[in-house]
Amino acid sequence: MIKKEPRTLIVCVSRHLGNTLKVANTIASVLKADLISPADFSPELAAAYDLLGFGSGVYRQQLDPKIKEVISLLPDGDSKPVFLFSTSVFGVKEPHQEIKNLLVRTHYSIIGEFSCPGKISYGFVKTFGGLNPTRPNASDLDEAVFFAKGLLNNSVFSKTNKNNNLLDKN
Ligand SMILES: Cc1cc2nc3c(=O)[nH]c(=O)nc-3n(C[C@H](O)[C@H](O)[C@H](O)COP(=O)(O)O)c2cc1C
Repeated sequence: MIKKEPRTLIVCVSRHLGNTLKVANTIASVLKADLISPADFSPELAAAYDLLGFGSGVYRQQLDPKIKEVISLLPDGDSKPVFLFSTSVFGVKEPHQEIKNLLVRTHYSIIGEFSCPGKISYGFVKTFGGLNPTRPNASDLDEAVFFAKGLLNNSVFSKTNKNNNLLDKN
């Protein structure tokens, strides 16, 4: 039996300083994923992939509304695996919750979440030079690599999947 890598599509919004895009590129290189912005997304495109990833900076305690729009276009997931990632001042996962609820409601299976701090240079914070000036740093991106490798080891990819044919039989 030969295990194949899942065909992975990542949709990312990184509108402040490109912080989340650094994480997205790192994860995409491990997963050999295609990385797009919401403008290039369609449900038909998503249907061609085994694994979907959604990433964004956190803006006013939420992921970018375009991520929510993209997810609202998705058909019933039939347990298709998905993952989420973000960067923010504190690097916490709480801002993922709304998107997680939407995905679970449409029967997607969330197999991982990643978050790390990102630089902010906006509003009054900008006046004193910003916060997290070096984030995401090399260590954050190493953690993103570890996270992405963990996705590949998820049990959903170690069983024959009748829809996705992730395993070749020989
Ligand atoms: C308009 C704006 C609002 C933000 N709101 C939050 C927030 O509510 N919570 C937080 O932790 N970080 C917040 N941040 C910080 C961003 O999440 C952080 O800079 C992130 O790394 C930006 O990612 P990006 O460069 O990929 O856009 C905000 C940044 C901006 C520009």
